Amino acid sequence: MRAALVLVAALGCGPALPDPDTPGAVVLRTRCTGCHGLNAPGSMTFPMWQVQLERMRGLFAQRGLPWLDAREERALLDYLAAHAGTS
Ligand code: HEC
Repeated sequence: MRAALVLVAALGCGPALPDPDTPGAVVLRTRCTGCHGLNAPGSMTFPMWQVQLERMRGLFAQRGLPWLDAREERALLDYLAAHAGTS
């Protein structure tokens, strides 16, 4: 088990995500790394995440990209709320 974890950590690029198999982590990995690296959930507080998500929503619109659907957005918000940093 330990070896497997080390392997996963070595293969993934960017920070390892907490609870990597939850729907919100999957959204973050699949929808949010096309243009830049993975932003670790703990890298900012939840209110900061909300601001950044609004900015990303605007940027998606600007580029004609489909924003997250309601289910993905809910999952991502729940995930960030659970794992955001405290300062
Ligand atoms: C279409 C390309 C694109 C996608 C897809 C994208 N982003 Fe971004 N993101 C950017 C660009 C460009 C910037 C930097 C410019 C800016 O901050 O306005 C950025 C900046 C950020 C920042 C600020 C990083 C910092 O260090 O200040 C965060 C946080 C972020 N994105 C989160 C997300 C999340 C969450 C998603 C998925 C919902 C996402 N991004 C998807 C293009 C994208």
